[in-house]
Amino acid sequence: MSDFKKIISNLKKSKNYRRRIPVESPQDTVIQVSGKVFNNFSSNNYLNLSNNRKLKAKLKNNINNYGIGSGASPLISGYSKAHENLEKRITELLGFESTLVTNSGYLTNVGLVNAISENGVSVFQDKGNHNSIIESSRLSNTKLIRYKHLDYNDLELKIKKDKSIVKIIFTDTIFSMTGEKADLSKISAIAKKNKSLLFVDDAHGFGVIRGNDKKFPSSINDLNLNKIKIDAYVGTFGKAVGTFGAFVSSSRELVDILVQRSKPYIYSTAVPPAIVQTTLDSINMIMDDKKIIENLYHNITYFKKLVREFKININYSDTPIQTITIGNPKDVMKIYKKAKESNILIQGIRYPTVPKNHDLIRINLTSGHTKKQIQSLVEFLHKI
Ligand SMILES: Cc1ncc(COP(=O)(O)O)c(C=O)c1O
Repeated sequence: MSDFKKIISNLKKSKNYRRRIPVESPQDTVIQVSGKVFNNFSSNNYLNLSNNRKLKAKLKNNINNYGIGSGASPLISGYSKAHENLEKRITELLGFESTLVTNSGYLTNVGLVNAISENGVSVFQDKGNHNSIIESSRLSNTKLIRYKHLDYNDLELKIKKDKSIVKIIFTDTIFSMTGEKADLSKISAIAKKNKSLLFVDDAHGFGVIRGNDKKFPSSINDLNLNKIKIDAYVGTFGKAVGTFGAFVSSSRELVDILVQRSKPYIYSTAVPPAIVQTTLDSINMIMDDKKIIENLYHNITYFKKLVREFKININYSDTPIQTITIGNPKDVMKIYKKAKESNILIQGIRYPTVPKNHDLIRINLTSGHTKKQIQSLVEFLHKI
C-alpha cells in the first residue's frame, strides 16, 4: 500500500484511473471546460437550479443578511435561525416529527449509523447502495449484511437468519448509478415483520419524484407514512435543490440523538446560513412553480421517445438517470472521449462504482435541457 507510484500505474493500466475536469463556467446545461463549450448531461442538477437567476439574487441578499461563513460547528455558534427555519419547513413538507440540517449527504449517512452503532446492531444493505451508506456501516461498530440488488427475497432470508438485537435496513431510494427505484412498500413490510428499523437515502429523489402535486417531490411523496414506516429519511440539497448540504428527517428522539452523538455533525463547521436560507428559497420555489419539475418530466419523456425511435438499447428508468450498459471500462472511456469530441459531456461509470462487467454510460437529464440538446445527444448515441 505504501508504493504509491505502483498503485497509480496499476490504476492507469486497468483503465480505472480517474481524472477531474475543472469547469470554467457556472453549473448549467451548457458548461465550459478547457475553453470548450459542452452540452452537459453529467450533473445531478436535475431541476437546473444551481445557476438560477432568481436564486442567485436571493443568495446575494442572504449573504448581506447572514454574512459568508457560519464561523463554528452547530453546537458552538454555527447553528442559525436560517438552519432552524429550514428544519421546520422540511419537517412540515415531509411529515416527520423533526429534521436536522447537515453538511453533506455522505457525512449524514456516516453520522447516522455511527451515532446509533453498538455491538449487536446489524445493517442490511442493498448491494447497489451508494458508497456513503456502505461506509456508514464499515466505519461504525455494526455488522454489515448486503443483500442482492433489489432482491427482497434475499433481504428477507438474511434478516430472518440474523440474531442481532437491533436490525436496520438502509437503502437508496433511487439508485444513483442506474436510476432504478427501491420498492419502499415491500421493504417497509419486511422491516415491520422482522421488527427492523428502515432508513432511506433519497438523494436522487428529493425534489425529483412526483406523485402528489400538493406535496414536495420525493420518493415518499405519495406514501402514507402512517402505513409505510420509515425511521430515518436522508435527503440532499446539492442535487435537485441546486445548493449544498443535506438533512435527516425522523422522530424527535432520533434527531436529538444525532445532535448529541453524530460526530460529523458535532465536529464540523455548520453550512453557511446564507446557503441554508437559499436552500429554503429553492425549496419554496420548487413548491410554488410546478413548471420547473414539469419541464424535467417533459425532457425524460422526449429523450425516451427519441431513443425508442433510434432503437437504442437503454436500461429501463423513469427517472432523470438514464443508462446504457457497455460492460467494460475501455469501451466506456472510448465513448466518453468520443462524446467529448462532439461537445457532449456524459458520464462513464466504471468498476468499482458499478459491479465488474457492468460498466456503463450514464446520462443525467435536467429540466433545463432543450429539445435540440437532447436530439443531438441521441443522434450521437445512435452513431456510436
Ligand atoms: C445516494 C447518495 N447518497 C449520498 C450522497 C452524498 O451526498 P452529498 O453530495 O451531499 O455528500 C450521494 C452523492 O452523490 C448519493 O448519490
